[in-house]
Amino acid sequence: MRKLALLGTGSLLVAVLAIAAGQGTSVASQGPSPTDTLPAWTLSASDTAALKGPRQPVFFRHDIHVGVNKTPCQYCHSSVGESSEPGIPSMATCMGCHLIIGGSDSSHQVEIAKVREAFNTQKPIEWVRVHSVARHVHFPHMRHVKVLGANACQTCHGDVARMPQVFKVNNINNMGFCITCHNQRQVNRDCTVCHF
Ligand code: HEC
Ligand code: HEC
Ligand code: HEC
Ligand code: HEC
Ligand code: HEC
Repeated sequence: MRKLALLGTGSLLVAVLAIAAGQGTSVASQGPSPTDTLPAWTLSASDTAALKGPRQPVFFRHDIHVGVNKTPCQYCHSSVGESSEPGIPSMATCMGCHLIIGGSDSSHQVEIAKVREAFNTQKPIEWVRVHSVARHVHFPHMRHVKVLGANACQTCHGDVARMPQVFKVNNINNMGFCITCHNQRQVNRDCTVCHF
């Protein structure tokens, strides 16, 4: 409940709806993760500096959007089920909420102001890519998401819902990571399946 007191009106609605849907405790029940020691809501400058993964031009937090607000992954990564590329959300997707939601504390307000500025000046935020395989490798997201089911994302990306900043949990640039699972699941391992 302490968390709720810190939320703005827009997010309060989202949070209340999530709790009404009985999902209010799922963050705590997801088990240990590399970010367990961090508070879900307020991060000091030294907490932020210690986070793994590349610094992004806007401090966008999955732990808030997914962990606290319960926005589904596919609300933002909308093509992950149909295409090789999961898609990074457009500024318009952000503004669906941030036209109204300005942030409940000064650190959030500063970052959300950057999002509004990017939208108003039509200069999309240039996110730094975290995961990317070499050009000679083909990775179809939709095939994996269909087969691996509801927690598919977590299999490869870890517990993103608890990450204030996304980092690589698995070394996707090591062929062994792919082959180990393809072996276990008896998937085709011909070189040409993955290599162009
Ligand atoms: C409100 C929108 C939003 C939601 C919901 C969301 N994401 Fe994201 N995601 C982003 C944005 C924006 C980025 C790019 C900035 C960054 O890396 O933090 C991103 C980046 C990522 C990345 C890193 C991409 C790269 O460059 O490798 C992964 C992995 C990811 N998201 C997974 C997830 C998963 C899994 C979920 C659900 C548990 C999720 N996202 C929910 C907006 C969202
Ligand atoms: C479904 C609604 C929704 C969408 C879509 C959404 N946000 Fe948010 N966002 C929120 C809420 C709620 C908060 C918490 C606001 C507060 O009380 O400070 C928030 C907080 C933030 C913050 C400050 C805290 C943090 O996460 O670092 C930033 C920056 C932010 N959003 C950026 C984005 C960007 C960039 C996008 C698009 C990729 C996006 N948001 C999409 C609802 C949304
Ligand atoms: C079997 C492993 C695996 C699964 C499952 C998986 N991913 Fe990925 N993801 C990857 C790999 C590998 C890359 C890098 C792909 C590339 O460079 O083409 C990646 C890249 C991404 C990116 C960055 C794309 C970009 O254009 O910047 C996002 C976002 C992402 N994944 C989100 C998700 C979401 C959301 C889910 C669940 C619905 C998911 N992934 C499931 C392995 C996986
Ligand atoms: C956690 C398990 C897992 C991991 C990790 C994984 N895959 Fe897969 N992959 C699968 C499964 C299961 C399928 C079969 C999907 C189907 O039946 O449609 C598959 C299918 C594929 C296909 C399509 C195969 C075909 O016959 O057309 C490609 C290409 C592929 N994976 C590439 C990769 C690459 C590249 C990586 C590493 C970056 C990777 N996979 C990591 C489980 C995995
Ligand atoms: C399931 C997918 C998959 C299959 C099957 C696969 N590879 Fe790879 N391979 C990868 C990935 C992922 C990388 C790492 C690419 C990167 O650096 O991002 C890689 C990298 C490589 C490299 C670059 C050197 C290295 O180790 O990084 C060579 C060479 C290579 N593969 C050869 C092969 C050969 C030969 C076969 C068939 C016997 C094969 N691969 C089958 C996914 C696959």
